[in-house]
Amino acid sequence: MKFLSGLLFAASVAFALPTSVVDASAESAVIAERACYVQCGSKCYTSSQVSAARSAAYQYLQSGDTAGSSTYPHKYNNYEGFDFLVSGTYYEFPLLTSGTYSGGSPGADRVVINSSGQRAGEITHTGASGNNFVACSGW
Ligand SMILES: *[C@@H]1O[C@H](CO)[C@@H](O)[C@H](O)[C@H]1NC(C)=O
Repeated sequence: MKFLSGLLFAASVAFALPTSVVDASAESAVIAERACYVQCGSKCYTSSQVSAARSAAYQYLQSGDTAGSSTYPHKYNNYEGFDFLVSGTYYEFPLLTSGTYSGGSPGADRVVINSSGQRAGEITHTGASGNNFVACSGW
């Protein structure tokens, strides 16, 4: 009897092991996905990167200034017709993976805020045709 229960235990471990290995890798994939608060094309942004871009944009907007010699933030007319999180008027500002935009090449990704500084959503040129935008995932 003792031998039999030992055997059953060994058998259940043998069967349980591959399943738990699969579960662990599925779980880390979910965690990696969660770390990506917003994804634009293949670029992953944390919530603090996105909110840093948004608050920089709002500060410029309030002071009537732009970043460096750029035109950002500037009005975004939403010709694409995105169903944003808040109502407009909308302003776009470059979203970067390191630091906040201070002029120069804006890259492909943007935060969009309304004139109260509320988060409208994030958009990107990556995967869009011409000068159009597509939505980033995460909003
Ligand atoms: C910005 O969005 C918020 C939330 O929808 C809204 O309450 C606010 O009035 C908007 N600001 C402007 C200026 O439209």
